[in-house]
Amino acid sequence: MKTLLTASPEEAAAFIRRGEIVAFPTETVYGLGADAFNEEAIRKIFAAKERPADNPLIVHLADLGQLPRVAARVPPAAQALVEAFFPGPLTLILPRRAEVPAVVSGGLPTVGVRMPRHPVAQAFLAACGVPVAAPSANRSGRPSPTTWEAVRADLEGRIPCILVGERTEAGLESTVVDCTGETPVVLRAGVVTLEALRAVLPGTRLAEATAEALARSPGARYRHYAPRARVRLVDAPEAAEPGADAAYIGLAPPPDPDAFGRVRVVKSVEAYAHELFDFFRRCDAEGIRTIYCQPVPPAGLGLALMDRLHRAAQG
Ligand code: TXA
Ligand code: MG
Repeated sequence: MKTLLTASPEEAAAFIRRGEIVAFPTETVYGLGADAFNEEAIRKIFAAKERPADNPLIVHLADLGQLPRVAARVPPAAQALVEAFFPGPLTLILPRRAEVPAVVSGGLPTVGVRMPRHPVAQAFLAACGVPVAAPSANRSGRPSPTTWEAVRADLEGRIPCILVGERTEAGLESTVVDCTGETPVVLRAGVVTLEALRAVLPGTRLAEATAEALARSPGARYRHYAPRARVRLVDAPEAAEPGADAAYIGLAPPPDPDAFGRVRVVKSVEAYAHELFDFFRRCDAEGIRTIYCQPVPPAGLGLALMDRLHRAAQG
């Protein structure tokens, strides 16, 4: 299959309306979308990504008017989060309407919904005219793509179209919050911080026990965000072992930067998050074997960054 690159949201949306799949930019990472009501199109996403069928997809909305088409109910806590954070990098888990095929949610009775605020994503979703189910546009197990080049590296020849945009702003995925129970539970730390969620709903908690996160969020079970290189967390930059096949990323510089194959010193946690997945992919392209990463305090965006670093280090 030939993969068309286009900068036209309308041209990309025409593929969705024909039952095809399209990669598109959002403010977090690139997504791989299909008409959320077209079961056959949804199956193409799982095939192209080689994604396990029980890992549910997020449904992306153009506007709030689409919410009742996919969610059976919007509990009061979810309504408060919609008002505070939509459009934006927040995904809410809600009861799924029967009209949304079960394959979208990996068979779960719920559905994840998010309304991106990225202008290209918004133009694309508006032109699609239907809610668009979309996971991150990477091969399953690879780091999420933050550039269209990364999408192409993973999916060229496997998808008919990539809507080309800028490098994504956040560089990490949306925060996933389960709103089906008594209190909101964060299933995946992300760009909307726990602190920001608690400012709206003080009872919001993290799915602490791994068992709980696994039971509630099938995606947490799979290896994620991992480059081919081995990832090591080093508390002190001095602990990183230099070498031509070693790389380093962190807020503080290593003692001998020239002794590494690749080094990135970032100015803030936001810049770290923005660059991490792209850094992983560049290291892989250059044959780096070990990537040393400096940890950050697990507060604010640092919580999501540390979640991705820990997962990558487990790989
Ligand atoms: O920022 C993002 O969220 C990006 C952009 C494209 O929107 N999407 C993304 O999708 O990261 P994906 O599929 O890579 O991650 C979605 C996560 C997975 O961990 C999945 O298990 C969880 O959300 N999820 C989706 N629907 C769910 C549901 N109904 N119940 C529990 N977890 C769900
Ligand atoms: Mg993903």
